[in-house]
Amino acid sequence: MPVLLITGGAGFIGTNLTRYWLENHPDWQVIVYDKMTYAASHRNIELFEGCPRFSFFKGDIADRQSLEPLLARADLIINLAAETHVDRSLMDPESFLRTDLIGTYNLLELHRKYRDKKFIQVSTDEVYGSVPEGKATEDSHLNPSSPYSATKAGADLLAIAYFKSYGVPVIITRCCNNLGPFQYPEKLIPLLITNALMDLPLPIYGDGKQVREWIYVDDHCRALDIIADRGQIGQIYNIGTGYERDNLSIATQILNLLNKPLSLIRFVADRPAHDKRYALDWQKLKNLGWSPVVPFEEALKRTVEFYVSNVTWWREIRESPVFRSYYEANYGWRFQDSR
Ligand code: NAD
Ligand code: DAU
Repeated sequence: MPVLLITGGAGFIGTNLTRYWLENHPDWQVIVYDKMTYAASHRNIELFEGCPRFSFFKGDIADRQSLEPLLARADLIINLAAETHVDRSLMDPESFLRTDLIGTYNLLELHRKYRDKKFIQVSTDEVYGSVPEGKATEDSHLNPSSPYSATKAGADLLAIAYFKSYGVPVIITRCCNNLGPFQYPEKLIPLLITNALMDLPLPIYGDGKQVREWIYVDDHCRALDIIADRGQIGQIYNIGTGYERDNLSIATQILNLLNKPLSLIRFVADRPAHDKRYALDWQKLKNLGWSPVVPFEEALKRTVEFYVSNVTWWREIRESPVFRSYYEANYGWRFQDSR
């Protein structure tokens, strides 16, 4: 039975990818290896506990000793393990350096020994920095703005160097902003939905005119599947959709879906070095036979429905000390200033 190892599989995309893979590849085993940082939830792992083709190991991608026996058993490795929140990277960059850069280096080092295993390094469109017009292709200049995107860009460069220098069979993917179930409620969409459900103000940085390109998480999972199957080793694939939306219009749509007043929107101090727009050219992936199937408005509706029906899941997170202290540090002064 072939084995997929998902590092960082207990977070947002990992939980959706685990479910996607178990459902769509009944002949595969899935192993999740995750450090269980604040961004992971034990409830995500519990979803799969009854499945004999699923197993979970707690560990850090920086710990080669505990990772090696799992990697040795795997046929395909998809690395999702990362610190992922831009605002946290602005407050405390060190953990981003440790995981996103050194952690990926550790995985690449292990892959020098196990060169028969395909390795997908999941990167991000943020490595291109702001794209004021047109679209970023895989050959565009890397121009990261935050410690988060800088460490992701560094990991990409290292992965390319390991392919060229040692023949490590790595493929890099750069996806746009995901939305869907199980996203930690510090990110824009789940934060706005859960704030609206609690009748709290919805913080919008700056003028809210910044644009992101959005993908439903299942479409991202399908793209990873196709890239694992048909992608070329040593290549980079952008994963985009063309669904560009500004933050203010997303806040408005969420409030409308929940029948809440638009007066909950609160303009607050901007994020430093805030990228104005992300936009990807994903023709290379289209050539492999992929295109998105869930339009943005449908994706947002499904996402809102998830948070409405899974209050226990997000309340446990929002009431945790780690979330509360982050919220106070990131928003306390912003809401004060906005009054
Ligand atoms: P997430 O923050 O929800 O999950 C990250 C997971 O990695 C968590 O389960 C966490 O416990 C785990 N982790 C963190 N440090 C680890 C370590 N040292 N060892 C092992 N596990 C560790 O993130 P996500 O949104 O699911 O993102 C997954 C990946 O996809 C990241 O690499 C991110 O850069 C990339 N990505 C995300 C998006 C998006 O919109 N969410 C878009 C493009 C790319
Ligand atoms: O583009 C892919 C990236 O998308 C991933 O690599 C990152 O891991 C993921 O976190 C996400 O990064 P963003 O910075 O785009 O996502 P975030 O949800 O933090 O913010 C989305 C937009 O909303 C951005 O323009 C900032 C704005 N924002 C965000 C928050 C949390 C607000 O206006 N208010 C907020 O409270």
